[in-house]
Amino acid sequence: MEPFTSDQASEYISLSQEVFAPIYPPLAYGIMRRTKFETRHPIVADLGGGAGLLLSEFVSLGASCGILIDQNINMAFFAKKKWEKEIPGASLYALLGNSEALPLANESVDLVVSRNSMHLWANIQMAWKNVWRILKPAGAAFIGRGYGPDLDEKTRSEVKKRRKIWNTNRCEEKEVEQPSPAPETIAQMVEEIGFQTVEIVPDAKAYWIMAIK
Ligand SMILES: C[S@@+](CC[C@H](N)C(=O)[O-])C[C@H]1O[C@@H](n2cnc3c(N)ncnc32)[C@H](O)[C@@H]1O
Repeated sequence: MEPFTSDQASEYISLSQEVFAPIYPPLAYGIMRRTKFETRHPIVADLGGGAGLLLSEFVSLGASCGILIDQNINMAFFAKKKWEKEIPGASLYALLGNSEALPLANESVDLVVSRNSMHLWANIQMAWKNVWRILKPAGAAFIGRGYGPDLDEKTRSEVKKRRKIWNTNRCEEKEVEQPSPAPETIAQMVEEIGFQTVEIVPDAKAYWIMAIK
């Protein structure tokens, strides 16, 4: 898989701010609730965290620390600058790195999240092995694609409408999106790595994998 180019990065930064912004707060809240971390101040890592809009929501909800890892320097730099300007002093860190070789110590993180990135990873199995490695015992991962399984229908259809307008205004030809691997394939792989419970969480046409170590 080709890494994000700097043009794709600036396009996605605008897209996440102008179109996707409303999906991140309910997604973060839903993940905290589903993984039972909402009152436990977890250390959260976001793989392929992009512009950082999802990760900062976890800190707003009580996470003790957020670490964004992205292989694209424009993304990681944008997130760092945005946080410094808008929420100075927040426990948020942006690292340049790869999901397949995470720059974090063994058993150092409570919750690993990732939205709309796994389908771009060159070696998904290697990345999940890394997720296992950095998670503390009983830590959780919530990784997948979509607007979020807990998004209300009104917001979902507004975001879909804005996305359509965005596509019409920006591209003469609609870019073909990379498909996701089958959820059952990923779930089985995650089980084989050793996660205790693995659940496929549907999200409209997409899905998430929730796994507890
Ligand atoms: C479509 S964007 C999604 C960004 C963000 N998660 C969001 O939902 O707004 C995908 C991101 O994954 C990153 N990415 C792709 N492959 C990666 C990998 N192997 N390791 C780390 N980041 C990766 C890209 O650089 C990009 O920032």
